[in-house]
Amino acid sequence: MPFKRDRKKHWDRVYKKNLPSEVGWYQDYPEISLKLIAITEVGADGSIIDIGGGTSKLPGILLDQGYKRLTVLDISGNSIEKAKTQLVEKSSRITWIEADVTKYSFKEKYDVWHDRAVFHFLTEGEDRKEYINVLNQALMLNGHLIIATFGLDAPPKCSGLPVVRYEPETLHNELGDNFILAETFFEDHVTPSGVRQKFIFCRFIKRA
Ligand SMILES: C[S@@+](CC[C@H](N)C(=O)[O-])C[C@H]1O[C@@H](n2cnc3c(N)ncnc32)[C@H](O)[C@@H]1O
Repeated sequence: MPFKRDRKKHWDRVYKKNLPSEVGWYQDYPEISLKLIAITEVGADGSIIDIGGGTSKLPGILLDQGYKRLTVLDISGNSIEKAKTQLVEKSSRITWIEADVTKYSFKEKYDVWHDRAVFHFLTEGEDRKEYINVLNQALMLNGHLIIATFGLDAPPKCSGLPVVRYEPETLHNELGDNFILAETFFEDHVTPSGVRQKFIFCRFIKRA
């Protein structure tokens, strides 16, 4: 599929062209993600990975809250460079990985896997299968999966790319029975240009 090869190019272009506060998914304060991470009670020593973290403010705020073991993975080197610039010297306290999550082989396991608006770009079953395999390898037993996707009433595209829209049950079906759905939040995200996007946020626990 041609887009697979162009995935990285697409995202590098987006982050080259736009300031962090100009992208459609920009959040000044990622409130629901922070709430869900707090609910996990992993504590300051919990290892947290933000998949497709982009230039989100989440890792910087988590550092300020005292979390110590943070990793951000993103396919776009440009996003990582911008995220580091934004964080200035704090960036050295984060582990950065430039990779396509569906192809990456993690050496570590994490207590929390956070993904806001990445999984929904995987429109092919084969890609979703790869993502879920990687997730299963990298998330600890009893670990928390926090995942946010476009909901059923959201636009069919994000960043000009088609997405799969979910409700909690269809997302759960996709992930499989070894995940327990613990809670769901709904959010009306408003993009910097004023477009409303319905998001669902789910926290799952990986069965021991
Ligand atoms: C819509 S943005 C969301 C960014 C961030 N999670 C947030 O909430 O602000 C999607 C992000 O996922 C990254 N991405 C897309 N496909 C990816 C993949 N296959 N592997 C890793 N990162 C990916 C993009 O570079 C981009 O930063």
